[in-house]
Amino acid sequence: MTNHFDTIADIYNKVWYFSGQYQKSMLENIIELLQLGKDDVLADIGGGTGATTRLLLETSNLRKAYCIEPSRKMFLEAQKIPVIESVCADAGEFMQLEIDFSKVLLKEVVHHIPSRQVLWRYLRHKLPAQGRILIVTRPQAIALPLFEKAKQAFRQKQPKHEVLMQELETSGFATSYRVHPYRFTLDKAVWFDMIRNRFMSDLAGFTNGEIEEGLIEIDAKYPGGTIEIQDNIIYIPASVKGMDRME
Ligand SMILES: C[S@@+](CC[C@H](N)C(=O)[O-])C[C@H]1O[C@@H](n2cnc3c(N)ncnc32)[C@H](O)[C@@H]1O
Repeated sequence: MTNHFDTIADIYNKVWYFSGQYQKSMLENIIELLQLGKDDVLADIGGGTGATTRLLLETSNLRKAYCIEPSRKMFLEAQKIPVIESVCADAGEFMQLEIDFSKVLLKEVVHHIPSRQVLWRYLRHKLPAQGRILIVTRPQAIALPLFEKAKQAFRQKQPKHEVLMQELETSGFATSYRVHPYRFTLDKAVWFDMIRNRFMSDLAGFTNGEIEEGLIEIDAKYPGGTIEIQDNIIYIPASVKGMDRME
C-alpha cells in the first residue's frame, strides 16, 4: 500500500506551513509544556521532515534531538538536517532502539499509532523522573474549513482527548489539557491547493473528483478570495507520576 506521507514528503514543509506566527505559537507552547532545556534529549516520534525537531533543538539549545519517522521519504528529508539525529522507524520500532531521552513529542501523529498503551507503558518505564511527554493533536470535531466528508473521515480516526488522558493516567502519568484556538486568514487559493495536495492524511482516500466537489462545497460556504481559518490545537502534557521508575 502506498504510504501517504511518502507521496507528500517533498512538499510537506510547504503545504503545512500556514504562517510564521502560527509556527511560533506552536513552538512556544511545546517548549513551555515539555519544559525543554539544555540538558534535555528529545525524541520527536513521527517527526516528519524534522523541521520542528530542528527548531526545538536550536531554540531550546537541547543536548540532542531525535526525529523518529517511518515514512522513508519523510525520513530522507529529515536526514538533510545534520544537527538532528534521524531514525527511520515507527513508534513500535522506536521501542526497540537503544537510545535514551528525557522528553517525548507526539505532534499530529497520535492517531496513527496502533498500540498506544504499549507505547505509554514503555515510556513510563524508560523516562527519567523528570521525563515528560507532549501530545499535540486536534479535537474530533475539527474546526478547519474542510468539506463535510473530510471532517467525517477525520473524526473517525481521531481519538478523544479524554481517552488519551485516561490511557496515560492508567500507565502512570499525570496529565493536563490545554486547547489553543488559533485564528488566521489565508488566501482561498492557498487553502484549496493544500487540500488538493492532500496535506492531511484524512484526505488521502478521496479521488480528485471528490476533492473538487468538496472544494465547491467549501467555496459556497465561504464566499470571497480569502478564508478565515480556526485551528483548535489540543496540547496534552504528561509527566511521570511519583519519583520511582516503574520496573
Ligand atoms: C501529520 S504528520 C506530522 C509530522 C510532524 N510531527 C509535524 O508535526 O510536522 C504525521 C507523521 O506521522 C508519521 N507516522 C505515521 N504512522 C506512524 C507510526 N505508527 N509511528 C510513528 N510515526 C508515524 C507519518 O509518517 C508522518 O510523518
